[in-house]
Amino acid sequence: MKTIAIYVVIVAWFAAVVVAVAAFGLMQEPSMRPKQPIEYPHHTHVQDVGMQCLDCHRYAEKSIYATIPGTDICMGCHESVATDKPEIIKLTEAYRSGKPVGWVRVYQVKPHVYFSHKRHVLSGMKCQECHGPVEQMTTVQRVTDLGMGWCVKCHRTRGAPRECDTCHK
Ligand code: HEC
Ligand code: HEC
Ligand code: HEC
Ligand code: HEC
Ligand code: HEC
Repeated sequence: MKTIAIYVVIVAWFAAVVVAVAAFGLMQEPSMRPKQPIEYPHHTHVQDVGMQCLDCHRYAEKSIYATIPGTDICMGCHESVATDKPEIIKLTEAYRSGKPVGWVRVYQVKPHVYFSHKRHVLSGMKCQECHGPVEQMTTVQRVTDLGMGWCVKCHRTRGAPRECDTCHK
């Protein structure tokens, strides 16, 4: 009896570990490459249409946030381009209703961390140094863990400040 009880406990424990690992995997995956409400393809707009990153992320050299463009910028073209495509029908509905699209954030630092786009972009850094080859991506995929080590490693290499209050105000 006793051996069976121990066996049951061990099996249950392994089952719990498997479930926990699977759940953790599910939690991790989407945040690296979340499913977006509209399947917006970066590669089409940058490579085929020839748009620049700053055409849409207009505040990247003016403010701490790069910002996601509003649907009015999209409709400048999609009022007439690819209007029959399902993703563009969704886009048009969002624009007409005035409701936000609800893009899921791919890159986000914790509230206790201070980060500024303007500061990095004006120093001549390319978006790709931190975000990878977005111009080749169909859905944006995160290429860093955004951990403190990632920031500090580059700051050390480039001789940028590393005092704690640089990033923790
Ligand atoms: C030094 C690294 C770095 C560079 C260079 C950089 N970014 Fe970012 N980006 C980040 C980090 C870190 C975040 C998360 C910031 C946050 O949570 O406020 C982010 C967030 C974003 C976001 C979503 C949040 C927001 O700010 O609106 C967009 C869009 C973005 N970056 C676009 C760009 C573009 C376009 C460029 C080039 C013009 C660029 N980034 C250059 C590190 C960088
Ligand atoms: C300068 C013009 C222009 C702007 C601005 C623009 N697009 Fe596009 N977009 C295009 C062109 C051209 C295509 C390719 C159309 C095709 O394949 O028939 C396209 C394709 C797309 C597609 C793929 C459609 C499909 O299923 O084949 C989506 C989704 C899309 N755009 C969303 C957006 C969103 C969202 C914005 C705003 C953030 C935007 N576009 C801004 C020109 C533009
Ligand atoms: C036509 C407008 C447009 C252009 C041009 C464009 N983007 Fe975007 N970008 C978007 C939209 C819309 C989103 C939100 C959907 C998504 O995350 O895929 C986005 C999301 C992003 C994100 C993820 C933001 C987050 O949630 O953290 C990054 C990083 C980014 N863009 C970088 C770039 C870079 C780098 C370029 C130039 C190579 C570029 N973008 C060009 C419209 C654009
Ligand atoms: C790929 C390199 C790189 C990465 C990654 C990077 N930085 Fe930087 N950062 C720099 C450089 C270079 C400067 C100096 C810019 C200048 O000279 O104006 C800088 C400057 C700064 C400043 C302004 C410092 C001052 O003078 O007060 C802050 C704040 C900052 N970074 C925060 C961050 C945070 C937070 C992260 C991570 C989320 C990060 N950085 C990731 C390269 C990087
Ligand atoms: C260049 C930017 C930068 C500098 C300089 C920096 N940090 Fe951080 N720190 C970060 C980022 C980004 C995170 C968030 C890490 C995460 O979300 O995993 C962080 C997180 C932390 C945390 C929370 C634990 C954690 O891993 O989330 C502590 C504590 C901390 N930092 C202390 C310090 C101390 C002490 C210093 C000075 C010796 C310092 N930091 C300097 C960017 C920085």
